[in-house]
Amino acid sequence: MKKTDNQALVIFGASGDLTERKLIPSVFNLFCGGFLPENYAVVGVSRSVYTDEEYRQKVVFENEHLKNKKAATPEKLKAFAELVFYQSVNTKEISAYSALKERLDQLDKQKSCANNYIFYLATPPSLYQTIAKGLADSGLNNQENGWSRLIVEKPFGYDLDSAKKLNKDLLSNFVEEQIYRIDHYLGKETVQNMFVTRFANSIFEPLWNRNYIHRIEVTAAEHVGVEKRGGYYDSSGALRDMIQNHLLQLVALVAMEPPVKSDAESIRNEKLKVFQSLRPYTESDVKKNVIRGQYSNSTVRGESVDGYREEDDVNAESKTETYVAMKFFIDNWRWAGVPFYIRTGKRMPTRVTEVVIHFKPNHHHLFAHDSTLANQQNVLVIRIQPNEGILLKFDMKIPGAGFNTEQVNMDFKYDELTNVYVPDAYERLILDCMQGDATLYARGDSTEAAWEFIDPILKAWEADQNIPVYGYPAGTWGPENADNLIEGKNMNWRYPCSNLADDGIYCEL
Ligand code: BG6
Repeated sequence: MKKTDNQALVIFGASGDLTERKLIPSVFNLFCGGFLPENYAVVGVSRSVYTDEEYRQKVVFENEHLKNKKAATPEKLKAFAELVFYQSVNTKEISAYSALKERLDQLDKQKSCANNYIFYLATPPSLYQTIAKGLADSGLNNQENGWSRLIVEKPFGYDLDSAKKLNKDLLSNFVEEQIYRIDHYLGKETVQNMFVTRFANSIFEPLWNRNYIHRIEVTAAEHVGVEKRGGYYDSSGALRDMIQNHLLQLVALVAMEPPVKSDAESIRNEKLKVFQSLRPYTESDVKKNVIRGQYSNSTVRGESVDGYREEDDVNAESKTETYVAMKFFIDNWRWAGVPFYIRTGKRMPTRVTEVVIHFKPNHHHLFAHDSTLANQQNVLVIRIQPNEGILLKFDMKIPGAGFNTEQVNMDFKYDELTNVYVPDAYERLILDCMQGDATLYARGDSTEAAWEFIDPILKAWEADQNIPVYGYPAGTWGPENADNLIEGKNMNWRYPCSNLADDGIYCEL
């Protein structure tokens, strides 16, 4: 195990939802797993006024997301709560940061955290620049006597220009090595396994190119709607919320060249090249190859479900997309001519994220008596969630006379690995940052490169209000038009079920 320095985690946005839902529970898991260093503290920072004790009550003892954990015995919670502190700061005022510095200095004496700090920005993005500047002005970016790291939550920018500006502002107060841009998909164990599947096995890599792969699909479907985040979501939409970050990160891992080493820079260099090779969309490409949709009210499993426009804090005439499907190409040697199809949507029939590799059919159909079998392709499904695992579809002989074939599944499921603890994405990512490992965080240049690909879509939608936003009833797989993106006889999206091995049938949750 890598050594973890003594340190403190300072969370901006300490009274927010992310802190209670993800950050505190993740640190608690690290605490229970023995991953925290000997001297450690969590310092919550926000405008609200709490004493340390009141804050502990809120985020530890009364936190629903903690209380339900098996490990959360009263003794453990009490011991963990002693690591938690609070400081009220008006983060918008640069002068307020000297008070924070004083408190951290005092805590450092008390807890011996060796002047090592992670500053986690879990606030609205409009505060990122101010917080970085406030920290820098009070010397908290200084690494002479300890280290200082900044974790920046998504969304990282609203479009290309704002992402560039954010990078520039952060880099005027911190250096790139101090900045950790989080994308929680990269913390998912199965996402990392994609890298291992490709580069630890000699059987896949020789086939992993335009000579053998017909097309690649990535689906990230959610069953939930926008929940309580209508205000944020209505000015974001699925393209910014899911595609620019999570889905393009998955594409990068599927499409990247083998890195020379497994360190942060080598891996991130290769991912950057994928983003740089994405074929830019013209306005007419956007019309043809990007489908957007919005869910409408419906009855799902006997329950009536609101349409997007009826959700709280959403404009009643909103044209924000809750679904996007798109087709694009990666213009490089490996992927020339191979279409990539990606889609994401809220209020789909089930929650599932998977990458599907469709191999080309064999060149001479010896055994195909049935014409549909002639087109049968081997398919590799990498299931990110739920029912995590890998499935390979291949042809077998049907027992009996002749050579009739049938496609069968060979699968591996993560839950078959008993006794292996699978950490939550945030837990893994926070631990990596604690140890100074940025491999699973996005680098500034690749964030901009991803925006560079997305920006023309946003611009085309803005410029031409007539580009349709198709309605789809909540609980369905999105607008039917998305099926037309995949050209070719008998070819369609894979319609996955929550159980990896069930397919070819219409599934609901
Ligand atoms: C977040 C998006 O980044 O990812 C949410 O803002 C989305 O809208 C979520 O629901 C999905 O994450 P997961 O881990 O549940 O697939």
